[in-house]
Amino acid sequence: MSTLVLAFHPKFNETSRIGKALAEAAKAAGATVVDEYAEYPQFNVGKEAEQARVDAADRVVLLFPFYWYSSPALLKQWEDTVLTPDWAYGNAHKLIGKEFQVAVSTGSPADSYTPEGKHHVTMDELLSPFATMVHHVGATWVKPFIVADVNNLSDEQLAEAASEFAAQL
Ligand SMILES: Cc1cc2nc3c(=O)[nH]c(=O)nc-3n(C[C@H](O)[C@H](O)[C@H](O)COP(=O)(O)O)c2cc1C
Repeated sequence: MSTLVLAFHPKFNETSRIGKALAEAAKAAGATVVDEYAEYPQFNVGKEAEQARVDAADRVVLLFPFYWYSSPALLKQWEDTVLTPDWAYGNAHKLIGKEFQVAVSTGSPADSYTPEGKHHVTMDELLSPFATMVHHVGATWVKPFIVADVNNLSDEQLAEAASEFAAQL
C-alpha cells in the first residue's frame, strides 16, 4: 500500500517537534512525505500536482498541529483548491477506494477534549469537518492518530508515538 503524508505545518523544518518526528517515522516506513507550506508559501496550491500525488496513493494522511481547534489555514486552501467536482465529487469520484487519515498533535491534554474537560468538546467533534469531507468524496475515514499534551511529552514518549504511527500506516 502506498502512503502519502501531506504535512501542513507553517514551520515544519524550523520548529516542528511532533509533526517532524511523525513524518520521519512515516518516511522510514516507506511513505512519501510532502511539506505543503514549503511547496506553497504563497498559498497558490497546485491543483493538478496535488491531484496527481493523491491519485498515486492508496492512503493519504493529513498531518498537522492543531491550531485553534482545527488545522493550519493551508489545509483549508488545499481542500478548496484540490477537491474539485471534476475529480473528487460531482462528475468524477477519483477518491473512492482510498483511505484518508488525519494525524494531529495538540498542546492540550487528551482529557481536555471531553464534554467534562476544559474545551467541552471531543476531538471527534472538532475533526468532523474532515471526516465529513472524506465521507462526501467516497473515501474511507481511518481513525485519527492523535498525539496530545505535546509540551509534556518526553523524547521517549514521542519516539514511541512515532513508531506506533508508522506501524499503523
Ligand atoms: C497558532 C496556534 C494555535 C494553537 N491552537 C491549539 C488548539 O486549538 N488546541 C491545542 O490543543 N493546541 C493548540 N496549539 C498547540 C499546537 O497544537 C502544538 O504546539 C503543536 O501540535 C505541536 O506540534 P509541532 O511540534 O509539530 O509544532 C496551538 C499552537 C499555535 C502556534
